[in-house]
Amino acid sequence: MTATTLKTAAEGKQPVVSMRGITKRFGGVVALDEVDLDAYGGEVLAIVGDNGAGKSTLIKILTGVYQPTKGTLELDGKPFSMASHSDAIAAGVDAVYQNLAIADHLTPAENLFLGSELTRSVLGFKVLDNKRMRKEAVDTLNNRLGVQLKSMDVLTESLSGGQRQAVAIARAVRHDTLRVLVMDEPTAALGPQETARTLQLIKSLRDQGLTVIVISHSLDDVFEISDRIHVQRRGRCVGVVTTAQTNNEEVLSMIVGAKTTDQEH
Ligand SMILES: Nc1ncnc2c1ncn2[C@@H]1O[C@H](COP(=O)(O)OP(=O)(O)OP(=O)(O)O)[C@@H](O)[C@H]1O
Ligand SMILES: [Mg+2]
Repeated sequence: MTATTLKTAAEGKQPVVSMRGITKRFGGVVALDEVDLDAYGGEVLAIVGDNGAGKSTLIKILTGVYQPTKGTLELDGKPFSMASHSDAIAAGVDAVYQNLAIADHLTPAENLFLGSELTRSVLGFKVLDNKRMRKEAVDTLNNRLGVQLKSMDVLTESLSGGQRQAVAIARAVRHDTLRVLVMDEPTAALGPQETARTLQLIKSLRDQGLTVIVISHSLDDVFEISDRIHVQRRGRCVGVVTTAQTNNEEVLSMIVGAKTTDQEH
């Protein structure tokens, strides 16, 4: 361990997520080579690295989309393996991808409850409880995420990129069991104002105790929101640094390989 990693705020606590020796091969391509990753409750862990460094593959293994070729995963110190994304959700790990899995032709509330609709019983028949879904959607968006939509009765396609993303985040955080939220490039397609709002939202989820893992190419965003930074290069983790103890230049040089910590052999 380096002096920097020793001084993390997370020191002494048990990680919520612990990935060890994760290797992933796609045919002859080694996307990940013996990667370790720890993430703690109430922190934003940023994952940075050049194109093809293995960032998305790493979080897809964490969210049950891919199986590792080798390596182990622990949640709260207990070995865990996931066969699918729904296993991950059941274990409290979910992901939000830009523009993914949001149905444009549904309202925000319908999107929040897509696949897990609330029902009520009328004369012994199950019918959709639209009123309760709408109320819970408003509760999650307004109270938990601080997002005000002009109307809840619009189709999601009429919302801005940031608002659509908030709907996707609301769907993930609606599950009381959610512990770990993973976001791949959450601000990539957003304008400056919406980026600022999304960053604020990420920080408030962290302050609510969630573990937030964010992949980003924007070091400005990374320095604004993260507590620690996990740097990937060519499929390997080349270091984990505490955001408050590093700077843009140092992280950039780790990304391009001009500087490494002693985690790289
Ligand atoms: N499904 C796949 N089949 C084959 N190769 C893959 C697959 N997914 C990823 N790879 C390869 O694995 C490596 C890591 O890819 P990955 O998408 O994880 O990178 P990344 O760090 O997310 O890059 P970017 O910043 O461009 O999103 C790349 O060489 C990529 O081509
Ligand atoms: Mg990627």
